[in-house]
Amino acid sequence: MINTGKNLDLAVLNLKKNNIVVIPTETVYGLGANALSKKAVNKLFKLKKRPQNDPLICHTNSIEKISQYVKKIPTKAKLLNDLFWPGPLTILFEKKNIIPDITTSNLKTVGFRIPNNRITLKLLEKLDFPIAAPSANMFGYISPTCVNHVLQNFDDGIDYILDDGNCSVGIESTIIGFKKTQTIVYRLGSLTVKNIEKIIGRVDYNFSNKNSLPGSFKNHYSPTKKLFVGNIEKLINKHNNKKIGVLCYNKKNKLVDNNLQIVLSKNSSLKEASKNLYSSLYLLDNMDIDIIITTLLPDKLIGKSINDRIIKSSEKY
Ligand code: TXA
Ligand code: MG
Repeated sequence: MINTGKNLDLAVLNLKKNNIVVIPTETVYGLGANALSKKAVNKLFKLKKRPQNDPLICHTNSIEKISQYVKKIPTKAKLLNDLFWPGPLTILFEKKNIIPDITTSNLKTVGFRIPNNRITLKLLEKLDFPIAAPSANMFGYISPTCVNHVLQNFDDGIDYILDDGNCSVGIESTIIGFKKTQTIVYRLGSLTVKNIEKIIGRVDYNFSNKNSLPGSFKNHYSPTKKLFVGNIEKLINKHNNKKIGVLCYNKKNKLVDNNLQIVLSKNSSLKEASKNLYSSLYLLDNMDIDIIITTLLPDKLIGKSINDRIIKSSEKY
């Protein structure tokens, strides 16, 4: 049994002992450890079965604290901080030596974000080190948006879980970095690129498949059941010998049993769909079905980020 609750002192105590503490954030739950401790970070990689060349994001509660760990804070980062932090944005900075190489997989940059969750912000306030936290799932599996999801991934190795119910946003943070005058987006997330561009101008993208770049691993966000993306009716016909579950955007399909379908948003709200995406995948993955089928959502705003996750978790990818 993993100890779960809202006890901040217990969370602090465990993190100080280089133990693993699960933290709630507005995006997904994080598997947290002291980002400055090689020992703690090593434990994290092992527990999650994460390859050592996939760097971690660090979490703290103010830009002043971030400045202790990075060489400089670019003006664009200050502007984004004013508007979007605390929030679902991760910024890559040039790291100081105090951040161990294991945390950043030997990269010279470190990702920081200030998460928008009341309890976790209180926890971070009490700490004199950042929390390194990947999503609290086994490497490659669906990201968790509530404690039950975390418990489906781990039955051991976690020293405390801070419980704050369901994540309000439900999709990971957007990751950006700066190169000379350029702003580069490395991972689409819940803060839309449009909102970022309004503040600091045009951005470029880098979703290359090289190691150590976000999203570079093929088996991301995947349920154990095979997930197929495309035209729902065609997929139903193609797989008519299988027991099918459907992840629907705004309505169920008449050809499949009602109980084997989950609707992301009855009102076609992309925000609601993002909040429900991972929990719906967990529900479907736990059903007595052979495969899951789904379709892409409107490819705009946060819909782009949802589609990115659907494609990465699917068989086509
Ligand atoms: O919303 C989120 O970002 C959640 C919550 C817990 O904060 N965290 C999260 O962490 O999604 P994780 O480890 O599941 O994904 C972090 C991604 C990885 O794909 C990693 O490659 C990338 O961030 N990353 C971290 N540091 C990086 C760096 N210095 N350069 C390039 N990519 C980096
Ligand atoms: Mg993850």
